[in-house]
Amino acid sequence: MNYNSISEIIKARRATPPGMLMKKEISKEVIEELLENASWAPNHKKTEPWRFKIYTGESKQKLADDCARILEAKRAEGYPVAEEKVAKFVGNLQKVPVAIAIVVQIDLAKRLPEWEEVAAVSMAVQNMWLTATEKGLGAFWATPGFVELFDEILELQPGQKMLGFFYVGEVMMDYPSPGRRDQTPNIEWK
Ligand SMILES: Cc1cc2nc3c(=O)[nH]c(=O)nc-3n(C[C@H](O)[C@H](O)[C@H](O)COP(=O)(O)O)c2cc1C
Repeated sequence: MNYNSISEIIKARRATPPGMLMKKEISKEVIEELLENASWAPNHKKTEPWRFKIYTGESKQKLADDCARILEAKRAEGYPVAEEKVAKFVGNLQKVPVAIAIVVQIDLAKRLPEWEEVAAVSMAVQNMWLTATEKGLGAFWATPGFVELFDEILELQPGQKMLGFFYVGEVMMDYPSPGRRDQTPNIEWK
């Protein structure tokens, strides 16, 4: 895509739901470029707290199967996760070509508060999102309500927390942006 400025890219970025993404593969080079740009996000004390797990093809199918099995087992044990939510999540994994698990590594030495690590990961995700937009790709940050159940599925290490999945793919069709409200109440010039 041809954009003339960063402002144009920022405003063109959309949360593109999985159903609007094409299943067509995205090249490894493009995924690597998203990840490279993610790593340039600012981060306090250079902790680089982002951990990304990339699922495509067979690994994505295995992730979908693991999710269906483990989430169903948890549900059967009485964990309050709705069957249709699990089915929707697993269905979305099947629809998209790339699913990137977004994980934050909390600093085990507690040199900085957790929110700063989460903020840095969020900035890394925005870098990926803007890069995808610049390439004409759609992306979506999905935060299933049962994130804590992913510790086992994603084999998370001590101090790691899942913050959702980032889906990327070619877009089936453009659709209108929700836009933004008048920002005056959100801003105070002092
Ligand atoms: C941390 C984060 C989590 C999100 N999780 C979801 C989600 O689980 N489901 C969803 O429909 N949208 C989710 N979104 C996307 C928002 O719905 C979307 O950004 C908002 O509707 C504005 O649309 P736009 O990004 O296209 O401007 C998430 C966004 C962020 C930043």
